Amino acid sequence: MTIRKIQEYPAPVLRQQTSAIDSFDESLHTLVKDMAETMYAAPGIGLAAPQIGQSLKLIVVDISKDKDGEKEYMAMVNPEIIEREGTQLDEEGCLSVPELTSKVKRAKKITVIYQDLQGTKMQMVTEDRFAVVLQHEIDHINGILFLDHLSALKRALYKKKVKKWLDGEQD
Ligand code: NI
Repeated sequence: MTIRKIQEYPAPVLRQQTSAIDSFDESLHTLVKDMAETMYAAPGIGLAAPQIGQSLKLIVVDISKDKDGEKEYMAMVNPEIIEREGTQLDEEGCLSVPELTSKVKRAKKITVIYQDLQGTKMQMVTEDRFAVVLQHEIDHINGILFLDHLSALKRALYKKKVKKWLDGEQD
């Protein structure tokens, strides 16, 4: 397993259209293991393939039962939200959007269709915090960042901050 480099805003790969996955081979399994390792090393609770520069419809999410216990994750291939219900407001951050957290309005309950690592079609209904994580990660494979859900003012302030960092790196 390898820890991959996490792409950060404004990397173009975070905005690209991703490709659907149609082969469930060893290379997919390796990619998933690398994503899980990268996520836990960061540390994070979810990671989408574009965040490590792979423009694919693939996410991994942490499903560990106990914070200090054994780490457990699941991979979702070609995930898509087919139903949304209600709203909730919860704090979000993103490994690709460093040093920013903010409340984001999301659906309270969602139905997701996806494939598992063998290519089997699955469906999941989930709500609350896990629904937030899934909406955040599925946004990534559609080129959307949590930043896009914030007010224009908050977004502009963050862009300004990043520009300053990038200018600083060039000095
Ligand atoms: Ni993210």
